Amino acid sequence: MAIERTLSIVKPSSVSDNHIGAIVAKFEAAGLRVVAAKMLKLTPEQAGNFYDVHRARPFFQELVDFMTSGPIFVQVLEGENAIAKNREVMGATDPAKATAGTIRAEFGKNISENAVHGSDAPDTAHTEIGFFFATSELCAR
Ligand code: CMP
Repeated sequence: MAIERTLSIVKPSSVSDNHIGAIVAKFEAAGLRVVAAKMLKLTPEQAGNFYDVHRARPFFQELVDFMTSGPIFVQVLEGENAIAKNREVMGATDPAKATAGTIRAEFGKNISENAVHGSDAPDTAHTEIGFFFATSELCAR
């Protein structure tokens, strides 16, 4: 199996609810390792650029408003099949449809405030990691 890296965002609602540690613990329990992490508050322009693929969707403004409503915790996770594993641990986009025990089932409130974001494929993982981190900030483990 391939060792991959993927981007994970703990969204503003999870940060304000003090769930950063509980969420990171779920990734670590699944065998993923944190190789970079930081907290920041996105500007509307940054959030819009990050979610550019959704710009034409009806929920775009709601998404930008939510993602800029408070600080986020961004991390790069590394491990075997990290991209798929991250998505498995997160659960379905809509917390109401997420499997019990997943992060979104446990900490998500609705499809907008769904606790976490994770890259969905190798190309987006590469782009999304580069959006937040310089190569020099990724720590080999
Ligand atoms: P995320 O994994 O961050 O990627 C895009 C986000 O858009 C998604 O999680 C949801 O939070 C949000 N999203 C997707 N579909 C909808 C929707 N129908 N209504 C509101 N937000 C949505």
